[in-house]
Amino acid sequence: MSFVDEIIRSFDTSLIVNCWKYIFPVLVVCYLIIFLYDKHLYGSKKTKVAPVVESKQKIDGIEYVGEIDLYEFDPIPVLEEKEHIPFKGATVTLDADPRKAAARFYEIVNDRRSVRSFSTRPIDSTVVEKCIHAAGCSPSGAHTEPWTFCLVSDQNIKEQIREIIEAEEFVNYQQRMSKQWTTDLKPLRTNHVKQYLSDAPCLVLIFKQTYGFKADGSKKQHYYNEISTSIAVGILLCALQAAGLSSLVTTPLNCGPALRSLLGRPTNEKLLVLLPIGYAAEDCTVPDLKRKPIDRILVKY
Ligand SMILES: Cc1cc2nc3c(=O)[nH]c(=O)nc-3n(C[C@H](O)[C@H](O)[C@H](O)COP(=O)(O)O)c2cc1C
Repeated sequence: MSFVDEIIRSFDTSLIVNCWKYIFPVLVVCYLIIFLYDKHLYGSKKTKVAPVVESKQKIDGIEYVGEIDLYEFDPIPVLEEKEHIPFKGATVTLDADPRKAAARFYEIVNDRRSVRSFSTRPIDSTVVEKCIHAAGCSPSGAHTEPWTFCLVSDQNIKEQIREIIEAEEFVNYQQRMSKQWTTDLKPLRTNHVKQYLSDAPCLVLIFKQTYGFKADGSKKQHYYNEISTSIAVGILLCALQAAGLSSLVTTPLNCGPALRSLLGRPTNEKLLVLLPIGYAAEDCTVPDLKRKPIDRILVKY
């Protein structure tokens, strides 16, 4: 008889049977406590907060990079049939001659610069609202319009935003960003102090909606929500410039959840960028950057 057989034979099986009389009720009570606690935290399954991961994943054949909501997507999106209406196509603007119009548009956007030093001079916030209206005309994956623009003009909220960002940026610059990253940023002379967050008369925080909701409350897939929202931001930058307002694209690292919670936004919204908007300060300077020439960005076939 082996050593193992000896142990099994000497084991008193009645002990296990007796123990189960106590273990079983304890397990049932534990399960009940966990079940009730879970229900108390999340409510029904529909509103349960989904786990979020930072990685590269494929969902329904689409590769998502960045924050992905792991909540189950609806397998088949419900697409309503829409009536198709005539459309005359784009019309030439800025000049009757398309070449001159394109050249004029280039000149305009080539004039845009990121401003990090803002005047406190007030702006007409209805102008910014109209620019946001224009950004909302952006194309989006399956016309899901997966964006939310939060316009903050309240000084107290701006100060709170600045506090959150400066605290995180201090750690970012000291610990999280690599030596290479901080070296690459040297020409821009940026650091953790963000005076522009309280100086600029308004801040626009743009959230990408990682998913939406259907009329029945179930989840709606938002295809390419990050690309769609980024295109909308590009249109917003052009619109602001057209209205004589300066801005700066900022991506405050690690501040998304705190800013989302400060503004009371739901968990399906993730902060994409924050734009301070206003007039450049009198003494504003910008780095003397050069843009790539056309032959370095265009490949013709
Ligand atoms: C996605 C993105 C993120 C950026 N993040 C920041 C940022 O966090 N802070 C900052 O000062 N500038 C930021 N910028 C601005 C760039 O530094 C700036 O666009 C670049 O230096 C070119 O300068 P220009 O905008 O004046 O042409 C960001 C720009 C983009 C497009």
